[in-house]
Amino acid sequence: MKFAPTLALLLSLSILGAAEQRHESLVAAAKAEEAAKPGVVAPGPTKFETVPPGEALEIAEIGRLMVELLDQRYPDGMARRGVHPKTHGCIRASFTINPDIPENYRVGLFATPGKTYEAWVRFSNATPLLAPDVDEQGHGASRGMAIKVMGIEGPTLLGEPDSRAQDFLLINLPGFAFPNVAEYLAVTKIQVEHHDDIRAFFAPPLSPDRLKTLAIVQQLNETKVGNPLDVRYFSASPFLYGPDRVAKFAARPRNPENTPVPEFPSFDYLRQAMRKTLDQPFGDPTIFDFQVQLRANDQLPIEDATAVWSEGVAPFQTVATISIPKQAFYNAYQETECEHMSFTPWHGLTAHQPLGGINRLRLGAYVASSQHRSQLKEMHGFPKWPQ
Ligand code: HEM
Repeated sequence: MKFAPTLALLLSLSILGAAEQRHESLVAAAKAEEAAKPGVVAPGPTKFETVPPGEALEIAEIGRLMVELLDQRYPDGMARRGVHPKTHGCIRASFTINPDIPENYRVGLFATPGKTYEAWVRFSNATPLLAPDVDEQGHGASRGMAIKVMGIEGPTLLGEPDSRAQDFLLINLPGFAFPNVAEYLAVTKIQVEHHDDIRAFFAPPLSPDRLKTLAIVQQLNETKVGNPLDVRYFSASPFLYGPDRVAKFAARPRNPENTPVPEFPSFDYLRQAMRKTLDQPFGDPTIFDFQVQLRANDQLPIEDATAVWSEGVAPFQTVATISIPKQAFYNAYQETECEHMSFTPWHGLTAHQPLGGINRLRLGAYVASSQHRSQLKEMHGFPKWPQ
């Protein structure tokens, strides 16, 4: 009898130990499963692409590291998007194929002149965590414009029965900062190892690829944005334009207000600028022209996402109009919906399949990020929100 409490204690401890172990192995299994996603079935590479050996393994490794990075960034509280976490606003808009779209551009989403779709547009910043719109040096991050055109018709890339959206994910420079999957893996490893400090990525000697990245990062730092509605945005990477052609996309504001960056920019000055333009009782809508840049010859690169196709060689053609009516977009309901939305270049028609290594990488990465951020989580402390 004397031993009974000890025995009970030992028993409960061993049960606890087993439960903990079981919990840990369940967590490990869930993480491994999550990292192993895509789990999405999509069409394979097209005749326009050249897949380097070993790329699939590098993509799987990035998927695993990205989930690790999200756990590092958000030990408590809600995980946000793996890239572009900061929202300036999710806006209601319409997307109309121009009635006078030239005949040879009437493909896929753009097949029917004059057709109007409802659309969401999310404007964002690409700092790893929620951060001021410009840092202490006045440097900005990459700015994003993600468009979700709803109610599309025709075969879709992921074949999901309830997915009837064509997403376009655009940034404010015509070239993406990393050329290919190998370089993206190298930077992701450094992000995980150094908690998002990527200075080691630029340690000399710099390879030609790193020099290209450095030039784009410097350009981003120096690009001044006063209002997300004033800026031109680009897909940077290429997409199919029907079975036999390739194109990049862009959105250009028709009448930008050319808002200056405030002398003392606040944490959320870009959202404030958007509210000043849109949150009004009356007035004209804000218009973006949606444009297509057809690949004019085989020399224009597909596998290097930093490469900018010369507009002299391959001009942009306006094909559609994005119209953003006045609206009070900043409210708790819309902000919550916005956090739960998921944009990916792989939501869309097979006629606009994403091309090139950077786009092949994005197939699994966006799914992993959006699934990870929607997971329920137990709190261990207070989230570190920016003050
Ligand atoms: C041409 C290259 C790229 C462009 C133009 C681009 C653009 C964007 C934009 C605009 C967003 C915000 C989407 C939103 O509002 O929800 C976004 C999100 C994201 N991007 Fe990219 N991106 C590019 C390449 C990449 C690459 C190479 C990766 C890495 C694998 C990546 C990973 C992500 C992730 C994980 C998200 C958040 C997804 C979510 O949680 O819903 N992106 N990107």
